[in-house]
Order: sequence, then C-alpha cells, then structure tokens
Amino acid sequence: MALELDFSRKTVVVIGGTSGINRGVAECFAAHGARVAVASRNPTKVEESVAALAALGAEATGFSADVRDYEALQTGIHDVHARWGDFDVVVSGAAGNFPALSRDLSVNGFKSVVDIDLRGTFHVMKAIYPCLKKPGASVINISAPQALLPMQAQIHVCAAKAGVDMITRTLALEWGGLGVRINSVIPGPIDGTEGMARLAPDPATREQTAAGVPLGRLGTPADIGKACLFLGSDLAAYISGVVLPVDGGWVQNNCGGMSDHLGQLMAGSVGKG
Ligand code: NAP
Ligand code: COA
Repeated sequence: MALELDFSRKTVVVIGGTSGINRGVAECFAAHGARVAVASRNPTKVEESVAALAALGAEATGFSADVRDYEALQTGIHDVHARWGDFDVVVSGAAGNFPALSRDLSVNGFKSVVDIDLRGTFHVMKAIYPCLKKPGASVINISAPQALLPMQAQIHVCAAKAGVDMITRTLALEWGGLGVRINSVIPGPIDGTEGMARLAPDPATREQTAAGVPLGRLGTPADIGKACLFLGSDLAAYISGVVLPVDGGWVQNNCGGMSDHLGQLMAGSVGKG
C-alpha cells in the first residue's frame, strides 16, 4: 500500500522557517498540500521563503518578528490566525548558536541563546495556544542533540535545548486533554546548514562528523521534514510528549566526536570564533 500524506486544507505555521532545516520543513508541508506561514527576524528572508513556498503551489504568507519580542510575535501569529483560522500544525525552530567555551562566553552571550531558544520557545507556545485546533493540532519543537548529551563549547545550547524538551513534555500533560499533541524533533548533523557551518566549519570536521553517524551520512532538511510530516499527521495520532532524534543514530554514538573537536578548536582560540 502506497502511503500519501495529504495536508491540503491544513494550516501549518513554521516559526524560524526562513532558512536551513526549518525552511526545508516548511517546503515539505507545502509540497504535501498545506498552506504555510513562516516567520523570522529578517523581512527579506521571510519574503524569499514565502515566494519559494508559493512556487511549490502552496498558499503562503509570512511575517517578521524576533521570538524574544513577545508582543511582535503574538501580533504576527494572531494575524495569520485571523486570516486562516485554527492551526493544524505548528513547528517552532527559531534558534541561535555559536561555539564558545564557558570561560570565554560572556553572560550576555549565554543569555542571548537562552533568550532565543528557550524563552523564545515559551513565547511561541504561549502565543499559539489560543490559535491551535482543539482537538487535532500537532505542535513540533525543533530541539538539538545538545539537549541529550553534554557538548564542549555548547553550554548555552545544552541548557536551552534541554529546557525546550521539558517544555514539550510539560505541555504534553497540559494540552493532551484538549486533543493537542506536542513532540520534539532532534535533528542530527544536517548538511549545508548554518548550524553545521558554525559547529563543523572545516571539511575535515564535516567528514569526521559524517563518519560518526551510524547510518554513514550527514542528514538533509528533507529528512527532518519527513519526520515532521509524520508527527503532524494522523499516523502519529497516539504520539505525544516524545523527544525524537532524527539523526541516523548519531546521539547513540555520542555525536561522533564533535564535542572533543569543539573543545580543542575553541581551546586554541581566544574570544569569539
Ligand atoms: P538557521 O538556518 O540559522 O535557521 C534558524 C532560523 O531561525 C532562521 O529562519 C532564522 O531567521 C530564525 N531565527 C533565528 N533567530 C531568531 C529570532 N531571535 N527570532 C525569530 N527567528 C529567528 O539554522 P539551522 O542550522 O537550519 O537550524 C534550525 C534549527 O535546527 C534550530 O532550532 C537548530 O537548533 C536546530 N538544529 C540544527 C542542526 C544542524 O545540523 N544545523 C542540528 C540540530 C538541531 P532570521 O535570521 O531571519 O531570524
Ligand atoms: N562567540 C562568543 N560570543 C558571541 C559570539 C561568538 N561567536 N557571537 C555572539 N556572541 C556574544 C556577543 O559578544 C554578545 O555578548 P556581549 O554583549 O557580552 O559582547 C552576545 O553574544 C549577543 O550577541 P549579539 O550579536 O548582540 O546577538 P544577536 O541577538 O544579534 O544574535 C546570535 C544572536 C549571537 C545567536 C547570532 O549568532 C544569531 O542571530 N544566530 C542565528 C542563526 C544561528 O545561530 N543559526 C544556527 C542555529 S543552530
């Protein structure tokens, strides 16, 4: 039996959906019939992403907001809701990252990542709550392997993304009775992304990372998109509160030595990378 996921007449909102993995996720939903809204800080990126989604045949819209600015985020989300009605799927993936050993990381650098990744996720959850289809909505938080494993030069991301997964698990309790499911997806090392450019900046590290993935390759945004299609569909109707690595087995292999590499890399540098 061939399995076709059909998201026509479904509304999907992707926060941080204007580049990299999240944009790939947004395009996956668009290619499967959804109408898709994306949001991020940079209005040019928003405009380009909306055009790319429309080119796939989807009804598309977007707005620019910083997830740290609750009022701006809420206004954008409520505008999409006023236009399209209740949300079937929300993907929350806005994040910031850079490698820095804790000795070199300023208190504002730590705060900046926690503000975007963790407080930003709470802001998204709070703003979407009145707009979710109840029952029936599926919410997906994009987490990271740093939530499961400590990684050198990633203390800010480890702390923030572990918090993101606890938001997921707590809301699975609070929202389950309303018929709203919520899960986290943990992408592995995804080729061609800003995250990989920052954590594996040279070809040798990129190759070493790929070799550390039990399935033997780096991931693609479409790998994450397919997992999100599944979690957003009725195939996952009884799945909530799960933290799902989509990483070719990478976390089972301690993230393929990236932690040691980052520790060595940053120990050899002073200040900002
Ligand atoms: P990316 O291309 O930089 O994507 C980040 C997205 O979030 C962009 O659309 C960015 O657009 C937006 N954004 C950043 N800060 C924001 C803010 N303060 N408010 C609103 N939007 C904001 O990075 P990526 O590497 O694809 O990562 C995407 C997600 O996957 C992140 O959650 C990351 O933690 C996770 N992840 C990535 C990898 C990887 O291999 N790349 C691995 C594990 C997990 P603007 O610049 O316009 O704001
Ligand atoms: N190393 C150490 N500290 C750094 C740093 C680096 N590479 N980059 C930024 N910081 C520090 C800054 O020095 C500042 O601290 P200070 O005031 O004590 O000097 C603090 O972090 C905030 O920097 P700022 O540039 O003002 O933050 P921002 O809010 O404009 O941007 C970031 C947020 C830093 C996370 C930025 O990298 C970003 O926007 N990232 C989004 C894209 C991304 O990271 N994608 C990958 C996702 S996995």
